[in-house]
Amino acid sequence: MYSFTPYKGCKRCSSIITAVQQQDYSASVWLRRRDKLEHSQQKCIVIFALVCCFAILVALIFSAVDIWGEDEDGITEENCSKNCRVVLVENIPEDISFLDNGTSHLPLSAGLYNLLDQAIRVVEIVSPLWLLNSSDYESSFQPAARQVTRASDLTLLKLRSKGIQLKISSGMIDSTELRTLARHNAEVHYVNMTALTKGHLFSSFWVVDRRHIYIGSASMDWRSLATRKELGVLVYNCSCLALDLHRVFSLYWGLQYKDFIPSFWSKRLFALFNKNAPLELTLNSTKAQAYVSSSPDVFIPKDRSSDLEAISWVIQEARHFIYISIIDYLPLLSSNAHRYWSRIDGLIREALILRKVRVRLLISCWEKTHPLTFNFIWSLRSLCMEQANCSLEAKFFNPRVQRDGSLQGINHNRFMVTDKAIYLGNLDWVGNEFTFNAGAGLVISQPEGVEERNSTVVEQLRAAFDRDWFSRYTRSLQANKIPVCNKHQINRLVPVKTSHLDNGPAEFY
Ligand SMILES: *[C@@H]1O[C@H](CO)[C@@H](O)[C@H](O)[C@H]1NC(C)=O
Ligand SMILES: *[C@@H]1O[C@H](CO)[C@@H](O)[C@H](O)[C@H]1NC(C)=O
Ligand SMILES: *[C@@H]1O[C@H](CO)[C@@H](O)[C@H](O)[C@H]1NC(C)=O
Ligand SMILES: *[C@@H]1O[C@H](CO)[C@@H](O)[C@H](O)[C@H]1NC(C)=O
Ligand SMILES: *[C@@H]1O[C@H](CO)[C@@H](O)[C@H](O)[C@H]1NC(C)=O
Ligand SMILES: *[C@@H]1O[C@H](CO)[C@@H](O)[C@H](O)[C@H]1NC(C)=O
Ligand SMILES: *[C@@H]1O[C@H](CO)[C@@H](O)[C@H](O)[C@H]1NC(C)=O
Ligand SMILES: *[C@@H]1O[C@H](CO)[C@@H](O)[C@H](O)[C@H]1NC(C)=O
Repeated sequence: MYSFTPYKGCKRCSSIITAVQQQDYSASVWLRRRDKLEHSQQKCIVIFALVCCFAILVALIFSAVDIWGEDEDGITEENCSKNCRVVLVENIPEDISFLDNGTSHLPLSAGLYNLLDQAIRVVEIVSPLWLLNSSDYESSFQPAARQVTRASDLTLLKLRSKGIQLKISSGMIDSTELRTLARHNAEVHYVNMTALTKGHLFSSFWVVDRRHIYIGSASMDWRSLATRKELGVLVYNCSCLALDLHRVFSLYWGLQYKDFIPSFWSKRLFALFNKNAPLELTLNSTKAQAYVSSSPDVFIPKDRSSDLEAISWVIQEARHFIYISIIDYLPLLSSNAHRYWSRIDGLIREALILRKVRVRLLISCWEKTHPLTFNFIWSLRSLCMEQANCSLEAKFFNPRVQRDGSLQGINHNRFMVTDKAIYLGNLDWVGNEFTFNAGAGLVISQPEGVEERNSTVVEQLRAAFDRDWFSRYTRSLQANKIPVCNKHQINRLVPVKTSHLDNGPAEFY
């Protein structure tokens, strides 16, 4: 460093030398310190960068859900197809016959096969249940059922050999059926609804090639194709609507094995259409508007209308009548204690009293019908007492008891039709359903008085409702008499049904 030759005999000099040496020393200390400081600064920067990277990664994982590009087919919301065909599909069990009253629609199984035939690239299915293989016992007295379901089973298994991808989102962890499909190269994503909402995945729809869709009451259950009365719609060549329903599917797809709900959703899950900005489309060359809704609230990314918002919208838009066909109607919410759940009940009261809209409720009378159902319906009916132009009618659809004691032909429909619109959904009208369970819905509205009213889907659904309503399978609600829907009916407050699946897949639900 500094080269100093000590100068002998100079006291002052030696003190200078000491001072210089000291300076020298402190300079080197300072340098070393600076070195250290720089070193730790570098460390800080590296750590900071790592933290940033990690945060971005976590954000990506959180937001999710379909960031790892999917095979895009180049169809976007700008150039998707709005020129669609709609077909009503129904499963009418063999032992129900509407004789000549029949407005008959395409059988559900034929509709679903047709949808599979249209598939080129990918079939996406979400279903609450997978039970297409009916057991020997169950199908011994329903041989036709067995044929239908075996065939559909095989069709799904064969998709792979045609080079078509099969994607399934499911809330069922231990389904042998899904395991078989997975072995045949179906991709199955498990959504742990217990961890996410303490509910169930009850959504039931198909998206085929992001062009065609099915949505309705039926699930991938042999009973839906055989012994239960089901109703749904197929919409063909409708990539705009399919794109939006695909986004609902993608949300479930991305929730695979997650045990928390992302705090923000990927932009690619945001709704394209909703009740404020519905899709303007043509259905069989007739102008219409449509949008997809979903439940529960915690599964709703930006812009998506919830099922309850969709139901409110349809009820509030009605001017003349509201016809509702539903399995269970119960305005109660039960978590720890029971609470009155007024969301839908209140809307019906408003429609009856304030807007004088005629309401018809067709409810299934079956082994799980909650006894309080009748009290709530009576309450609605008594609202109209001594009121001009106020009309609420309720009927119960009765299944028949088979030789072996099981019920056949339960009305599993879940829809509402008004003079303006239809709503088809996956959930029952029970408070718990909308709060905890995942479901999807479709609203289609058609302006009144355009073209041939009797050929629109709204009109067709109304005809289907009328056919059921006036059939010999329904019973009216009679004064002060509670119909017996099940043998074990008890008149105390039994727990509100929280799930269809609680009693195992062998139950009818
Ligand atoms: C739709 O638009 C996208 C880009 O906006 C384009 O890449 C794609 O080819 C278009 N698809 C069709 C079918 O026109
Ligand atoms: C249905 O059952 C048949 C015979 O029991 C079996 O061969 C087939 O793989 C099953 N299908 C599924 C999807 O489990
Ligand atoms: C689903 O979540 C629940 C509650 O967090 C947990 O107990 C259960 O093990 C999870 N199931 C699976 C298959 O991960
Ligand atoms: C969908 O469109 C294609 C081509 O535009 C047509 O060939 C097909 O018949 C249509 N499908 C239905 C069900 O209308
Ligand atoms: C009931 O409806 C009829 C016919 O629609 C109408 O003439 C009458 O004024 C209405 N009454 C009341 C009280 O709204
Ligand atoms: C619609 O109704 C008219 C007369 O009411 C009838 O002539 C026509 O065939 C009906 N159209 C359909 C598609 O049912
Ligand atoms: C729409 O067209 C298809 C095929 O042309 C037909 O099967 C279906 O019944 C029509 N739907 C309505 C609501 O008229
Ligand atoms: C057909 O409808 C009429 C009323 O429109 C009803 O009286 C009759 O019971 C119905 N028949 C069947 C088999 O549903």
